[in-house]
Amino acid sequence: MTQFDFPRSRDEGAHEEGSGHPRKAVRPSRVTLTFDHPLTPADMERLQRSTDARAAVGVPLGVALALDREHRLGFTKSSDPEVGALLAALAASVPAGGRILETGTGAGVGLAWIVHGLGSRTDAEVLSVELDAARAASVRASGLPPWASVLAGDAVELIGAQGTFDLVFADTPAAKDVGLADVVAALRPGGMLLIDDIADATHPATYTRITTLRERLLGDPRLVVAELACATGMFLATRRRTD
Ligand SMILES: C[S@@+](CC[C@H](N)C(=O)[O-])C[C@H]1O[C@@H](n2cnc3c(N)ncnc32)[C@H](O)[C@@H]1O
Repeated sequence: MTQFDFPRSRDEGAHEEGSGHPRKAVRPSRVTLTFDHPLTPADMERLQRSTDARAAVGVPLGVALALDREHRLGFTKSSDPEVGALLAALAASVPAGGRILETGTGAGVGLAWIVHGLGSRTDAEVLSVELDAARAASVRASGLPPWASVLAGDAVELIGAQGTFDLVFADTPAAKDVGLADVVAALRPGGMLLIDDIADATHPATYTRITTLRERLLGDPRLVVAELACATGMFLATRRRTD
């Protein structure tokens, strides 16, 4: 029996301090795979490169298919399983008539987690917006449920015309700065906002961006905010029912 400890690439460097400012350590994300045969060096190299390893740890089928698409598209910025699982749990909580928005579809991994969370429900709607038209088309062609759609375009420009939402997964760089006001405005009372990729503040510019985002979220009286120190770090904010 051989065990392979699989550190996901986006964890690398995520625990260092940025710009001399102290910051909380983030728990490393690791997956341990167990094999009943010895691994050759070639096997090890393939595993290190392969997204199949993530698919092998029991993610839902739709997510495994999305991870395969990610691999084929050569896309490297999909959400980690911890983020995806939280997203699925939050999606499952939206009320009947609920609406969910994702900005930045990527290869559709986050969207697959949301779809998994909604399961067999048909009383909710999911909209994902992606700037890259080819990427959007690829996810759209993957066979989404009728209540899920992918819109190609710039979320910063489009979001104001899309109505309000019970859950927003804001997963584009712009959503963390220039687009943040519109994202918060799009939250329904009791609506939740999830933002990830806030742990890697090793570059001064990234550090400033994340610090500013934290101040804006925590300083917004309409929001109740939790900072989650797992995976790539997340902010989870709920819009108060009374502003
Ligand atoms: C981190 S990836 C998204 C990963 C995906 N949400 C997931 O959970 O797997 C960011 C994506 O946002 C897209 N993007 C960047 N700026 C955007 C914008 N202004 N509007 C819409 N999509 C944008 C990028 O093309 C990229 O595919």
